[in-house]
Amino acid sequence: MKNFVSMRQFSEHEMLQLIKFADDIQQHGIKPFNEQLFAANLFFEPSTRTKMSFIVAQRKLGIEVLDFMTDSSSVKKGESVYDTARTFESIGASLLVVRHPKDNLVKELAERVSIPVINAGDGKGEHPTQCLLDLLTIYQEYQKFRGLKVAIVGDIKHSRVARSNAFALSTMGADVYLSSRPDWYDETLPYPYIDIDEAIDTCDVIMLLRIQHERHQTESTLNKQQYLEAYGLTVEREKRMKQHAIILHPAPVNRGVEIDDRLVESSKSRIFKQMTNGVSARMAVMYRILEDGGVLHANDFNRRN
Ligand code: CP
Repeated sequence: MKNFVSMRQFSEHEMLQLIKFADDIQQHGIKPFNEQLFAANLFFEPSTRTKMSFIVAQRKLGIEVLDFMTDSSSVKKGESVYDTARTFESIGASLLVVRHPKDNLVKELAERVSIPVINAGDGKGEHPTQCLLDLLTIYQEYQKFRGLKVAIVGDIKHSRVARSNAFALSTMGADVYLSSRPDWYDETLPYPYIDIDEAIDTCDVIMLLRIQHERHQTESTLNKQQYLEAYGLTVEREKRMKQHAIILHPAPVNRGVEIDDRLVESSKSRIFKQMTNGVSARMAVMYRILEDGGVLHANDFNRRN
């Protein structure tokens, strides 16, 4: 694997291998690289979890982080994303982690630079490392995907998390359903609609999505309480979930909008577990990329050998 830009790169077998590798890293750890490696994290959109868990993952792997702040960089002078990426390539970065508001930009960038590129979220395109950590969280819960019913609930139309997860989960054999307010449904996605109350009664995973206000064309007039009651996870709905069912949300959470504030840290919630899993999932991705790029030839650690 040179780049990690879309879940569509992977077969069911390849996804499972990556999930198991991330799980193994979490359980047993992995020794850091011996040689000097640099990673540049190019975030052209705000982030807390993704950016910080990439940094933790990079440091755990012994990769030096070339942190980059758009506001204090030459992007402010008009430098393009491509020229910024080529600059990091030229000064010796071994990989780029890129988040950008434009759909498909990261994939296009990956085709134009020679060093590996990881998609940390592109517009409403994909968020594949979020997807991998979501898959890891579900796998740790159920040890399988086939036969699971997963409802992806919320602002489907503007969600890159929904796009990556719907494809990946269905590739893994899960039955995927989409549930949303009518204007936030995406009829181009080939997955059946499910009413929120039917999803609550029947699904094994309720994956809530953040309302992506920043991608909406019009100013929000949302009544938060009404939205929660009509389309979100209320306390009453949580009580009706299957006994073993779990709640996921990529975060940041709009407490009291997609989910009742009291449920964010409830027994069924795996929201903070997802964040923990983000570190090992991202370690797995970067390790595999650097391994495939031949970085490990001089590395004396590979504990599998
Ligand atoms: N889930 C997620 O992408 O969170 P951040 O925007 O904080 O990175």
